[in-house]
Amino acid sequence: MKKNIKELKKENNAIILAHYYQMPEIQDIADYVGDSYALAKYAQNTDADWIILAGVKFMAETAKVLNPNKRVFVPDINAGCSLVDAAPVDKFKKWIDSFENPFVVTYINSSIEVKMLSDVIVTSSNAVKIVSKIPKDKTILFAPDKNLGDYVMKKTGVNMQIWDGNCYVHNQLDAKRIINLKNIYPDATIIAHPECKTDVLDLCDFVGSTNSLLNYVKNTNYNVYIVATETGILHQMKKAKPNADFILVTPDDNSKHNDCKYMKLNTLEKIYDNLINQTNEILLSEAQIERAKISILRMIEFAEN
Ligand code: 13P
Ligand code: SF4
Repeated sequence: MKKNIKELKKENNAIILAHYYQMPEIQDIADYVGDSYALAKYAQNTDADWIILAGVKFMAETAKVLNPNKRVFVPDINAGCSLVDAAPVDKFKKWIDSFENPFVVTYINSSIEVKMLSDVIVTSSNAVKIVSKIPKDKTILFAPDKNLGDYVMKKTGVNMQIWDGNCYVHNQLDAKRIINLKNIYPDATIIAHPECKTDVLDLCDFVGSTNSLLNYVKNTNYNVYIVATETGILHQMKKAKPNADFILVTPDDNSKHNDCKYMKLNTLEKIYDNLINQTNEILLSEAQIERAKISILRMIEFAEN
């Protein structure tokens, strides 16, 4: 399968971009592995003709918006996200319309329709920086992740109206279990993704996007890392620090519950199917691309400057 994928990639000038939450075998055949912002940036600069985005659908849609002339595929078209589901476009529009002078900051984990109604997109790696740059005379609306919104508000001191959605994987993690783990491993450092609840984040030594968590591991020298996020990132963490112990914070005794059920829909077979049968191509209208591009490019401009 891996050999066939490699050959088909070459034949079609295709690249595979994988999110860190993909299964290890997918991360290992990818041309690039990154968090949602790094994947968007990589997609913006590639000269491949086809992009297989091994992640969830909103990530593939973002890659398509940035590359309207390339073919973009997602291994499983049902790879959704609980945050996308939390913000249906009609409800979202009504919410925006209920404010005067709104400035809509939307997490990249959202539908293309919701992005079209937004002023700027953010990811967990740049939300704090971007929100601190927004003119203060605006009513800032932040959607759809409440935990990330609360975290950004705390870090920036900027007041925001926050939509009540969450990532079901991170939201289920519990502060009490972290306190128990810290009692067992008193010298451990605690790290978490900002989609976790505030009481979890308050216990952490470091909070950051998937890339930042990995960089923290690479740049520190602890024997034990208590990690509050999705399972997939442990693959790269263990590669970076083979002698360290990584203790995943789980909602119960079954660590499978930290697997994002959407991310884990993707398989090598489905990637092969993308390449051989051109299945699950992302198709967006010109109007969708043009409008969503404004808020996505504004993210890149704010994040890079
Ligand atoms: P990152 O921006 O850290 O990749 O997060 C995306 C995501 O879906 C986390 O659950
Ligand atoms: Fe969405 Fe959470 Fe899965 Fe990330 S881990 S894709 S935020 S459901």
